[in-house]
Parts: sequence; C-alpha cells; structure tokens
Amino acid sequence: MVDKDAVRRGYDELAEAYAADRVEDGRGREVLSQFLDELPESARVLDAGCGQGTPVLRDLAASATAFGTDISRTQLELAADRVPEAGIAQGDMTALPFRDDAFDAVTAFHSLIHVPREQHQAVVDEFARVLAHGGRLLCSEGPDEWRGTNPDWLGTGVEMQWHIAGVEATRDHLRNAGFAVEREWRADDSLDDGDDAQWTFLSARLEE
Ligand SMILES: C[S@@+](CC[C@H](N)C(=O)[O-])C[C@H]1O[C@@H](n2cnc3c(N)ncnc32)[C@H](O)[C@@H]1O
Repeated sequence: MVDKDAVRRGYDELAEAYAADRVEDGRGREVLSQFLDELPESARVLDAGCGQGTPVLRDLAASATAFGTDISRTQLELAADRVPEAGIAQGDMTALPFRDDAFDAVTAFHSLIHVPREQHQAVVDEFARVLAHGGRLLCSEGPDEWRGTNPDWLGTGVEMQWHIAGVEATRDHLRNAGFAVEREWRADDSLDDGDDAQWTFLSARLEE
C-alpha cells in the first residue's frame, strides 16, 4: 500500500526538481482551458494536490476564484510564491480541509495517483462533499491499474510511490459518489522527461 507520509516527505524533498521538469504546454492544459471556458468567472475552484501551482492553479486563478490544497508543505510554499492570489491550505485529499458545498469545481491533476488504492473512493467522495450541487470535476488518471515505487525519482535520490487505479475503476468511483462522467480525453502532460505516458482526463458533473 502507498505510504502517504513517504509521498509527502518525497514531495517536500523533490519539489524544486518536480517543478523544473513539469511541462507548461502539455495537452492537459488545453483540456483545462476547455473546462474553465464552461465555468462562470464567479466560480470557486479547488485544485486538489495543487503541488507547485504551475501551470494548473495559476490558470485557475486567472479566470476564477482559486484555492489550492496539497499534502506537501514545500509544494505549497512554491504554489503560494507562484500564485499569490490563490487561497492555500495544507491537507490530505482523503479528508479535505473545506466545508461542504464550498466549491463550484474541483481539479486534480496527477494527484489521485499517489493515494493508496483503497482510499481512491474516499477522495472522490470528498470531491463530491465539497462541491455544490451540479459542481464540476476534472481529474487525471492512468489508463490501467499500476502500482510502483521509484527509489531515485527524477534523479534526486528521493523515493516516490504511486498507485494508479485505472480509468475503469475511476469511472466506478465517480458514479458511486454521484457524478455523471461527461467527457474523457487521452493526453500527454506532466513531465519533460521523455516519458510519453498517456493520461486520461475525465470531466464529470455532480448529480446527486
Ligand atoms: C505529480 S504532483 C502534481 C502536482 C500538480 N497538480 C501538477 O499538475 O503538476 C502530485 C501532487 O499531489 C500531492 N499529493 C499526493 N498525495 C496527496 C494527498 N493524499 N493529499 C493531498 N495532496 C497529495 C503531492 O504532494 C504533489 O504535490
């Protein structure tokens, strides 16, 4: 099972290296732009697992009222520096530090994949809890289930852990939480490391 403390410590240690490798012009950003186009300017949007804040939280803040949350304090320090206009709170996605119905939309780029598989449903349930009725979600997932550890991620000597649930399981988690999946995209995004990993982005609307 993924050790969340190890993930948090890992991001605290390699935050600068991840920020340096994070692509700014991946297709995920086009997907985000389409998602934001459908939200009113008054929308309150939470970026869950916002990391260093670029490019996702920064794009949210440019067209909506943006909040970011992350388990890693160092990642949040980078985010606060890069996107000072966003509200920032440290927290675990399995127990978001926000009240019920607080947001009109939630984004989660490449963050669900670091949560223990057994807790993915709890995270999606939290997204539903903090969203107002009719709220929108945009999250990324790997296409198939995969669990792994890299003892030297990004050449930093720091360990990182993942448990990707896969798209099929994520669709189930979304439906269980009362979301209707509206659209899916396959897209490259994430790291400038020659890795041509394809991600699936799912957008969904909270119906129940
Ligand atoms: C791959 S980075 C993605 C950062 C950013 N969303 C992006 O698109 O570049 C994953 C982020 O998820 C955060 N994260 C991992 N597990 C988390 C959890 N249980 N709760 C909140 N954040 C978590 C990590 O600290 C890290 O900043």
